[in-house]
Amino acid sequence: MITVIGSINMDIAIQTEIFPKQGETVLGNLFTTIPGGKGANQAVAAARLGSQVQMVGAVGQDAFGKELHGNLINENVHVEGIAKTNSSTGIANILLNDNDNRIIVVPGANFDVDRSLIDQNMDLIKKSSLVMLQLEIPVDTIEYVLGLCEKLSIPILLNPAPAANYKPEWIEKVTYLTPNETECEVIFGADYETVLKQYPNKIIVTLGGDGAAYYDGAHIVKVPGFKTKAVDTTGAGDTFNGAFAHAITEGKSIEESVQFANIAASLSVEKFGAQGGMPSIEKVNERLEGMK
Ligand code: RIB
Ligand code: NA
Repeated sequence: MITVIGSINMDIAIQTEIFPKQGETVLGNLFTTIPGGKGANQAVAAARLGSQVQMVGAVGQDAFGKELHGNLINENVHVEGIAKTNSSTGIANILLNDNDNRIIVVPGANFDVDRSLIDQNMDLIKKSSLVMLQLEIPVDTIEYVLGLCEKLSIPILLNPAPAANYKPEWIEKVTYLTPNETECEVIFGADYETVLKQYPNKIIVTLGGDGAAYYDGAHIVKVPGFKTKAVDTTGAGDTFNGAFAHAITEGKSIEESVQFANIAASLSVEKFGAQGGMPSIEKVNERLEGMK
């Protein structure tokens, strides 16, 4: 069982040709509300591939909360660990144009994911073969979960996004850390190759359309991505993480898991919305076969 302890958001996406400048009003093209949140996205990505996934998180008692809860059930994610609190459901305001996206997240109920919610779900967490974390819930909770998993010897995949919430001392506690290139730079203040060499088989840096890289103890292994036409890159990193978790818990090697995750991410960007293009196992295998 993969356990995702993380955020659940409604993504409020606006497509526009121009972003407004200070004090300016512009007309956009399209407005949609679609399920998102890094935690929920990663849970859905792994579940679509066939993993057993449970989520520990929180939504509000509002319309968005209801919809997001229902969405996770539809996606075969176990929702027993999701609390309904008095805060408003988390949202992400996403501005998209052809070559850029800008996101403001308002955490709301995601900040109710506290130590007591973790304690309430201890029996669920103990069943995990991997715990997945991102940084859209309180830092205190992350710290608590890291200590807990260390005690229980449960492997941890930490996706350090948004990077500003990351604490350097966590590196010793995690099994895998998956920053993108920018996050890697923010966290370690060095170029990614230098960083990778310090943490063999632990840090996997995602490189957008170029794939991902890690250090195997002797060489930097660059696993190329699959070049495709991106419609919407929102959630590509989440798809990578969910797919990597699926592959690694199935016993695949790091290299195979990274390749598998690259392919899943390439399929995800071909459709609109964070969870829109997240593939089934058949779709990933088809593309993998085509590459041989
Ligand atoms: O990683 C993409 C996600 O980040 C979006 O779905 C949005 O909700 C933000 O949390
Ligand atoms: Na997508």
